[in-house]
Amino acid sequence: MKGLILSGGAGTRLRPITHTSAKQLVPVANKPILFYGIDDMAEAGITEIGIITGETGDEVREAVGDGSRFGVNVTYIPQDKPLGLAHCVRIAKDFLGDDDFVMYLGDNMLQQGLVEFIGRFEADRAAAKQPTLHEHVDPPAAQILLCPVPDPQRFGVAEVDDDGHVVRLVEKPVDPPSNLALVGVYLFTPLIHEAVAAIEPSPRGELEITDAIQWLISHGHRVRHDVLEGWWLDTGKKDPLLESNRRVLEELETRIDGDVDDASDIDGRVVVEAGATIVRSHIRGPVVIGAGSTVTDSYIGPYSAIADDCAIVDSEIENSVILERARITNVPRLVDSLIGRDTEVHRSGRRPRATRLMIGDHCTIDLD
Ligand code: TTP
Repeated sequence: MKGLILSGGAGTRLRPITHTSAKQLVPVANKPILFYGIDDMAEAGITEIGIITGETGDEVREAVGDGSRFGVNVTYIPQDKPLGLAHCVRIAKDFLGDDDFVMYLGDNMLQQGLVEFIGRFEADRAAAKQPTLHEHVDPPAAQILLCPVPDPQRFGVAEVDDDGHVVRLVEKPVDPPSNLALVGVYLFTPLIHEAVAAIEPSPRGELEITDAIQWLISHGHRVRHDVLEGWWLDTGKKDPLLESNRRVLEELETRIDGDVDDASDIDGRVVVEAGATIVRSHIRGPVVIGAGSTVTDSYIGPYSAIADDCAIVDSEIENSVILERARITNVPRLVDSLIGRDTEVHRSGRRPRATRLMIGDHCTIDLD
């Protein structure tokens, strides 16, 4: 079994962060989102992983390297334009060869790993190869992962019959046939190559993976499904990204490797990486503070992740993700925020009192 991780795309919903970098490399609890998917594959014993890259390919390549530090072998597959999830399968055909593979959207995060998902597929295939006298069932051609959601109109949605077979898939339906949304993890046999070759672009100009799976079903192939256990988030927007950060930090274990002075208080589960310095500050976990960062005369509250080499001075931060080298000075209350790399947020105290901004394109600013 091989792995295919999709790490191209446009990332419009996470601008301005994605103007300058890959959304799959935004950290959740100080670890790039993409690394969670690679780790899940490694844990499931998948060692050959193809990564689809787009405009941010150089950055992805630099972050992941040859995969050896995850215990896997990575092959990069550049995609000229984000022409759709099924297009990714088309261009990965040579890499995938005749193998079954797990396809994983590089900006998705799920609590449950891949071990059981793959195990159930393989058990089903093994059972199908040993038919009883009474029935013969074809082995599944694909397996999808579904999650009940309150707002299925926003997702690819599956209709499942009483025997658990997927009978229909629809992309963002106005009138959803069920509340079961497609999670960004799929398992395919090589039959999918025939499907992605046969479909045409959708009205939005993309080769849709839902159309390819629908093609399998319409051509008499069996598509099985699994219902997700635990949480799943598509981190492509700010709020789900902060939610993923909260979920992962929930499971944090305390580790203080950096310097914390006697005038500082650390409450709850907190990680202070080696080389980080906490001075006269109050840290209330779950919080992670990256290597080389300094926190001075500040309060860092629950569900905050401060990346490496940041400087936080005279400020209060809660429920926020702060990327590398950000400098935050004299900001009394910064909450629910995603702050990009090399940024500066400060309150200068200059008169007349005013908000003075120098912001890039597609930013969102919510003033008090
Ligand atoms: P999406 O989040 O559906 O698309 P996007 O990245 O273009 O984002 P936005 O809607 O904000 O513009 O993509 C899911 C994942 O698949 C994501 O990790 C990007 C990746 N992807 C590709 O690698 N190639 C593609 O052609 C597409 C459409 C997505």
